[in-house]
Amino acid sequence: MSNSSCNEISCMPEHVAVIMDGNGRWASAKGVPKFAGHKAGMEALKKTVRKSGELGLKYLTVYAFSTENWKRSEEEIGGIFKILIYYMQREIQEIHARNVKVNILGDYSVIPENAVAAVDKAIELTKNNTGLNFNIALNYGGRDDIRRGVVKLAEQIEKGELKSGDITEELISKSLYTADVPDPDLIIRTSGELRLSNFLLWQSAYSEFYFTDQLWPDFDEESLVKALESFEKRKRNYGGR
Ligand code: FPP
Repeated sequence: MSNSSCNEISCMPEHVAVIMDGNGRWASAKGVPKFAGHKAGMEALKKTVRKSGELGLKYLTVYAFSTENWKRSEEEIGGIFKILIYYMQREIQEIHARNVKVNILGDYSVIPENAVAAVDKAIELTKNNTGLNFNIALNYGGRDDIRRGVVKLAEQIEKGELKSGDITEELISKSLYTADVPDPDLIIRTSGELRLSNFLLWQSAYSEFYFTDQLWPDFDEESLVKALESFEKRKRNYGGR
């Protein structure tokens, strides 16, 4: 379970996760190609990372590409990875200067080679940073995450290293991509959709949700602060009283 830091005045989440939805609708509304929508989405992401660091957030996780997104057109998929490479090459110095540590959730070995290389470089450059932990979910799916965890545990049982009765919730958490990441306190989804879309299924058991009609490219520093203010007002009891 996570450790949001609360005192009598405020309650700051430790981990915020974001489903960045609405790039396509933003582009359609403006009459521009979808690529321009994703590019504007990248600008919104830059603002969110910057503000999260300034606010002293410990973990920010964003859903950049799901295991289901491969169903999109080749042109759109290519565009998203192009933007990812651009982001990793052009923004990484600022990210590094801000003491942000980049990490990936998901099997990103299958994304285009030049994107893998750009991501690996960013991870390597920022690996000793101690500020915001910035997790990018890439080729990530919650069910796939759990399936992989189950396979890992089954393999340990096959080797005689583990007994089925010794499988605890904690052990399952430790077998996921988020092994070293606390569960998200707050999950934000933009664009008015009210669903989780296979994002952090196991990890979201006690997360608070914040939905906004704003399309992702319109999300800015003020939007993030509004979401955090909404979180502050919630009373969390994790099933207790
Ligand atoms: C959802 O909008 C957004 C995505 C599937 C891609 C998110 C990608 C970015 C924000 C680009 C930058 C990312 C990084 C990590 C640099 P949608 O296309 O589903 O919108 P729609 O529902 O309106 O069509």
